[in-house]
Amino acid sequence: MKLKIAVLSGDGVGPEVCDQAVKVLKAIELKFKHSFTFTEGLVGGVAIDKKGTPLPEETLTLCHESDAILFGAIGDPKYENSADTKIRPEEGLLKLRKDLGLYANIRPLKVYGPLIHKSPLKEKVIKNTDFIIFRELTGGIYYGEKKLSSDGHAASDECVYTTEEVDRVAHLAFKSAKSRRKKLTLIDKANVLETSRLWRKRVKELAKQYPEVSVNYLYVDNAAMKIILNPREFDVILTENLSGDNMSDEASVISGSIGLRATTTIGDKSVLFEPIHGSFPEKKGKNTANPLATILSAALLLEHFKLYEEADAIKSAVEKSIELNITTPDINTTKKYAHTSTVGEFVSEYIIDQKNILYKMENISLGQSTII
Ligand code: IPM
Ligand code: MN
Repeated sequence: MKLKIAVLSGDGVGPEVCDQAVKVLKAIELKFKHSFTFTEGLVGGVAIDKKGTPLPEETLTLCHESDAILFGAIGDPKYENSADTKIRPEEGLLKLRKDLGLYANIRPLKVYGPLIHKSPLKEKVIKNTDFIIFRELTGGIYYGEKKLSSDGHAASDECVYTTEEVDRVAHLAFKSAKSRRKKLTLIDKANVLETSRLWRKRVKELAKQYPEVSVNYLYVDNAAMKIILNPREFDVILTENLSGDNMSDEASVISGSIGLRATTTIGDKSVLFEPIHGSFPEKKGKNTANPLATILSAALLLEHFKLYEEADAIKSAVEKSIELNITTPDINTTKKYAHTSTVGEFVSEYIIDQKNILYKMENISLGQSTII
């Protein structure tokens, strides 16, 4: 298959983790005889530095002309800590989402057996957790009108939703629930917010089209508690933009490391794949950030194009790296942790020639070789 992939690695550790995902996709290309092209585009703080805007026109054009976007991270403390900052890196991401109509952000969460002890939560609570969050991504308070009074003492952010915006992401969530454990939970604040009441009304209406899916409704405060008290209770979660943002960071605690969570974002015209961790500026350029979430995002990209065998090859290689402890310091707290690039190399080599890399690994542990 021919695929044009736009690589928007962005800020902080974005470039180093994206490099690994590209390396892995090139291994897939070679092994399975595909033809992928990778074109880099500027976004975020680096784009402000180089072009004076967080989303240059040429990046947007590149995204429009590509089959898929691989995204790194956005955010740079140098633009963050001042309330007077006129232009923020995050605006690039928000504009990108809006322009490309990327309305559904899909954040799966599974607990990896060998990493279960890394979570601060008890094993008996999180074991076998497997849910997906469908977060609406181009509406709500993120995109409502923002105002600051002239004296600077009052501010407002409007929250608007239309039935069309609710319906399109809800349909995706219902379809996903239908193919899974057939349970959908809508998270909202319908006891207070009019927009939430609209969400409930629409979801109740749409539920009639999916009779096999059982639907329940939770207020976001209660859901925030339940998701860590009993995460196994959830199958598919559907929620609006801001609650989805908050709930997904909370949920990442369950998996032990945010460094493992990959996401798909679906739009009318584009698809984007990214790790959910941010730009992690403290670790920038240190070659120690965990690339697995971005590598797993590459697997989601392949799945999107129905390249299931290829995606499975990545997932098996990632599992092997975890099993063999070829992992970065966020999960491997020993002195023998692996660097970002080493994890990428291991995963790529494992895809191309499993036996050879395992043989090499054995020699390394016997002290006979120093390569990978
Ligand atoms: C995310 C991020 C973004 C968001 C930021 C960087 C604007 O936190 O993708 O979850 O709030 O959507
Ligand atoms: Mn977030």
